[in-house]
Amino acid sequence: MLVHSKPPAMEQLSKPNHHRAAFIPLIDLSKPDTKAQLVRACEDFGFFKVINHGVPADLIRDLESEALRFFSLPLSVKAQAGPPDPFGYGDKKIGHNGDVGWLEYLLLTTNSSADYHKFSAIFGLAAEKFRCLVNKYIAAVRKMACEILEMVAEGLRIQQRDAFSKLLMDEQSDSVFRVNHYPPIPGFLESDGRNLIGFGEHTDPQIISVLRSNNISGLQISLKDGRWISVPPDHNSFFINVGDSLQVMTNGRFKSVKHRVVANGSKSRLSMIYFGGPPLSEKIAPLASLMQGEEDSLYKEFTWFEYKKSAHKSKLAVNRLGLFEKIVAS
Ligand code: OGA
Ligand code: NI
Repeated sequence: MLVHSKPPAMEQLSKPNHHRAAFIPLIDLSKPDTKAQLVRACEDFGFFKVINHGVPADLIRDLESEALRFFSLPLSVKAQAGPPDPFGYGDKKIGHNGDVGWLEYLLLTTNSSADYHKFSAIFGLAAEKFRCLVNKYIAAVRKMACEILEMVAEGLRIQQRDAFSKLLMDEQSDSVFRVNHYPPIPGFLESDGRNLIGFGEHTDPQIISVLRSNNISGLQISLKDGRWISVPPDHNSFFINVGDSLQVMTNGRFKSVKHRVVANGSKSRLSMIYFGGPPLSEKIAPLASLMQGEEDSLYKEFTWFEYKKSAHKSKLAVNRLGLFEKIVAS
């Protein structure tokens, strides 16, 4: 049973253990056989870094500069693209349960242009370019995420190679794209040791998250023993998170990784995250082929819609999957 600390709202955080950062698993997607390595990373960390991922560097760079251009606009202008209900611009407030962080962000849908009008007013003609770059970028990272999920399925010896990836490829896939901007903190002094929370600790509820950030530090992950480690940023790589849904589909064999962002203070951090989710009506349950012998599901049955609704009602730091765990008589 995980013990959850109270949600950190703009407060001092425990110091991460920097010496262990080197242990973050590194997967080279150009190597022929990384299945076993991928499975191990999903089991041990729920988190890993990928290199030689095939997403064009100029696409990443162009999207990053469009996003920075948007965030450099006056707040009064950006606010016209808000509130994030669920898509649009948000500032400091994350969700509807009192979570706040030192960030501003854009939440975009991946499969329609429903929120397009919010941005067109602000960007003028450039809105089209932004959306076009977002679409290309999402297509590229989704492809990579699917390749990873297929190798993972093979590594788990699941007959159906696309058991996970087909959920992301489904036309009804409920995936989200998020751009987070952590601005410098005015008057921040490196020496006073304060740590402002950028994005409070949480696990991502979807199947898989693909994160790319600029070269500014801030992301931390929690190890199984509860210690926090800093993830050294690398703008040429992607970081992959196992989400709650993948934890359930593997009946707890994979762990969704707890993570957070500490505001860097002096420099602006930009991250872009693709959250690969299933269709709303999809039942999230352990895959039959992964159940051994008499093994029972650790979770109650639920759809992605039900889980998402429940997760949105709770604070970030709450163990949101806890509500769906079966109570096992001991
Ligand atoms: C998130 C998240 C990390 C980051 O948006 O779910 O964990 O680096 N973001 O912005
Ligand atoms: Ni996250």
